[in-house]
Amino acid sequence: MDVVRIRGGNPLRGSVKISGAKNAALPIFAATLLTEEPCIIENVPDLSDIRSMGELLAHLGAKVERLDPHTWRVTAGEISHTAPYELMRKMRASVCLMGPLVGRLKRSVTSLPGGCVIGPRPIDLHLKGFSKLGCKIDIEEGYVKMDGSALKGGDVFLGGRHGSTVLGTDNILMAATLAPGTTRIESAACEPEVIDLCNMLVAMGANIKGIGSHALVVEGVERLRGCTYRIIPDRIEAGTFVLGAAMSGGNVTIQGARYDHLTALFDKLEEAGLPIPRGESDQIQVNASGLSLSPVDIITLPHPAFPTDLQAQMCALMAVTPGLSIVTEKVYPHRFMHVPELQRMGADIAIEGASAIIKGVANLSGAPVMASDLRASAALFLAGLAATGETWVQRIYHIDRGYEKIDEKLRQLGADITRMPASEMPTQFLEEVAAGEG
Ligand code: EPU
Repeated sequence: MDVVRIRGGNPLRGSVKISGAKNAALPIFAATLLTEEPCIIENVPDLSDIRSMGELLAHLGAKVERLDPHTWRVTAGEISHTAPYELMRKMRASVCLMGPLVGRLKRSVTSLPGGCVIGPRPIDLHLKGFSKLGCKIDIEEGYVKMDGSALKGGDVFLGGRHGSTVLGTDNILMAATLAPGTTRIESAACEPEVIDLCNMLVAMGANIKGIGSHALVVEGVERLRGCTYRIIPDRIEAGTFVLGAAMSGGNVTIQGARYDHLTALFDKLEEAGLPIPRGESDQIQVNASGLSLSPVDIITLPHPAFPTDLQAQMCALMAVTPGLSIVTEKVYPHRFMHVPELQRMGADIAIEGASAIIKGVANLSGAPVMASDLRASAALFLAGLAATGETWVQRIYHIDRGYEKIDEKLRQLGADITRMPASEMPTQFLEEVAAGEG
């Protein structure tokens, strides 16, 4: 297992290229099951989650080829309808295989996902949607068994207590493309990744209206065809680099990113004293040199509000912004696993219900810390960049699930960051790893 050592204090400077969006690529990979024709997907990020999804599609019988590091071709000729627990448990996004399987084969058997460290991850809204499309659903021995022999269009409301559901919208959309009749999805998620899936489905011949809104109307078609599709840039990776530049007092050009996907973040940064101009179409310029920021309050909510996937990184920024800020998590109210680790670095943060009350300090100090999930890892990387001394981040396989070559990209921007086998860590930290596994 690798670890990362960060020696903090270097402002990030230069230019970084953003990869394709993981959360768009995963459902788009699943959508290739809707046709027996080849689909070529471009701008795919090189990530462990993508490789896991490739394995799952191959297990189902698809021919999965990686044409170059960022281009894949999937040909789902003869496929089976059963996705096993051993492969699905690696990645929660595999839940979005249900929609294409039931759409194309009119049945599916998929493992029921468990919760994860960011909190409970129920799929009740997905299942409610499938039953509105005429599916019979049984849950047996940890598997969801769906009989879609009577699959047809229907009216589906996907609002839940935390807003809509991203993968739930994806699932119902994909099934609806091949369901006879009209499907109306109300309270649909409108995240850029959902729009990307809609655009891919349209390129495959689907008939979808209302793309980008909370009300989608799908007219089922008899069959879909193959296509070549390019994934949008990863807004969360881009936002993480924006926050890295802000935290380190840096000056960074973020290339290949969409400004319009991050306006809630830019609105808050402007309020904090860091205006980010809308410049060239695929470039974001962040210049925080010599700036002192003010604290701001954040509430995460579904798009277009502040994204939960940038909450941990924003907590890291507020932890080094003198003054009081309150970060409230409305999508995953328990998503604060980064807080105890930031506290180990000297952050002054208290959790009250679904809020982090942060008293910004002048300095964090480097420490050995443990990554618990993808975005918590990103927050620890950012904290390490701003801290004095050495930060050792352990269990970095979490960050490799969602950030392509993040250590290399940060090093190119001037960070002092080194990935190494855990055996090369100073022994006192190694003992801590062993103690932490219990
Ligand atoms: N929810 C329900 N019932 C459901 C589905 C969701 O109550 O049937 C609740 C969830 O528990 C949560 C909220 O609704 O409180 C939103 O969950 P959603 O279904 O939208 O999340 P998701 O589709 O499973 C995707 C991303 C997450 C991202 C969320 C919210 C992928 C692969 N995952 O998850 O990304 O946080 O949307 O934007 O697209 C990440 O990349 O780090 C990550 C966790």
